Amino acid sequence: MTKLTDAEAARMHPETLALSAGFDPWLSEGAVKPPVFLTSTFAFKCAADGKKFFAWAHGEGTPPPRHEQGLIYSRINNPNLEIFEERVALWEGMKDAYSFSSGMAAIATTLLATHHPGDEMIVCVPVYGGTDALIHHFLKSLGIAAHFVPAGVDAPALAEKLITSRTRSIFIESPANPNNRLTDIGRMKELAMRQPGGRILVMVDNTMAGPVFAQPARVGADIVLYSATKFIGGHSDVVGGVALANDDALLSAIAQHRALLGGMPNPYTAWLLTRSLETLKIRAEQQQRNAEVVAAFLVAHPKVRQVCYLGLLAPGDPEYAIYRKQHTGPGSLISFYIRGGEPEAFAFLDHLKVFKLAVSLGSTESLAQHPAAMTHSGLAPADKILGGVTDDLVRLSIGIENSEDLIWDLQQALAAV
Ligand SMILES: Cc1ncc(COP(=O)(O)O)c(C=O)c1O
Repeated sequence: MTKLTDAEAARMHPETLALSAGFDPWLSEGAVKPPVFLTSTFAFKCAADGKKFFAWAHGEGTPPPRHEQGLIYSRINNPNLEIFEERVALWEGMKDAYSFSSGMAAIATTLLATHHPGDEMIVCVPVYGGTDALIHHFLKSLGIAAHFVPAGVDAPALAEKLITSRTRSIFIESPANPNNRLTDIGRMKELAMRQPGGRILVMVDNTMAGPVFAQPARVGADIVLYSATKFIGGHSDVVGGVALANDDALLSAIAQHRALLGGMPNPYTAWLLTRSLETLKIRAEQQQRNAEVVAAFLVAHPKVRQVCYLGLLAPGDPEYAIYRKQHTGPGSLISFYIRGGEPEAFAFLDHLKVFKLAVSLGSTESLAQHPAAMTHSGLAPADKILGGVTDDLVRLSIGIENSEDLIWDLQQALAAV
């Protein structure tokens, strides 16, 4: 554990605490970095301890803080998972976090932990294609219905009309994947709180912006979700996910369902994610610097019809006020509409030499893909239109390369269209 007193730790920044929180070198031979705890099970000092640890894991009694609750079995808890979770929670400014084997495992487990057959969701679209399929097909088959509203400034007013006594959650991706539309999380929370019974949860998938440039719980989110495969992992070498909450009952429900469904990451995945958190801020900031240069280049290019990038929002744009409230920077995801349609978009993608033609985002290398044919290809045609996922849309995730090389690549690929 850190030598800082609680008061001293409270004034430290996440990038400082991300190097030490949750790990005591003296429990591991003085190792400065956490070892990988490759063990499936943990020895109890006595049978009474085993009984006590299981009771706490079942949410019984009054458990001590999580890292003092006793290790049992790596599907339930493991030091590598706990170190990572403590550090992500610090970044997000939230009470606690649970890590998962993928973003989809985090989202699916959390939705199953918080919804029952007969419940309804309101979903701001677009959302990532996997999330869309989960909600449209899997949850529907369990009797959990969803209503859809387009992300953006009008989303709260549209959502209000769809609220019923069965509404359990409002699900938001902000910025939305892939068109970077913003939804006002605070207004959604106000809407949720106006309903009798206080049962509506505001859930935000913060994969596209956070945790460096946006922390949705600060503006009202009850649950924050991540694909840690993206910025948190940051090197396209690991798949992971996170769910965070402040409320003890929600955290306990997520923990119980993760243990039941078995969607936790393995210790090495958690170790890799912990290692990546150390460089999260410097990566995200360099990616953002590059993205600002790329966005300015694309806006001025005659073959580009429209660029969707938070850094281009200006006073007077409908979503500018939301941006200022929810974000401390525009991040590094850019979507743009090329003049033409799928043939022009594909020609552009096929001529890229520095950018890799691959799905995913948030990594050190720049990536380009075609949402309508790739990540969002499973969306129903009407939902594609609702979410702006048309054949002329290209999504770029900007990496840490030299921005001059990125511009050279975009220039030559656009020239070939
Ligand atoms: C916004 C968003 N949420 C969730 C996911 C799913 O995450 P994973 O691929 O780690 O399961 C993705 C994947 O691309 C995503 O972009």
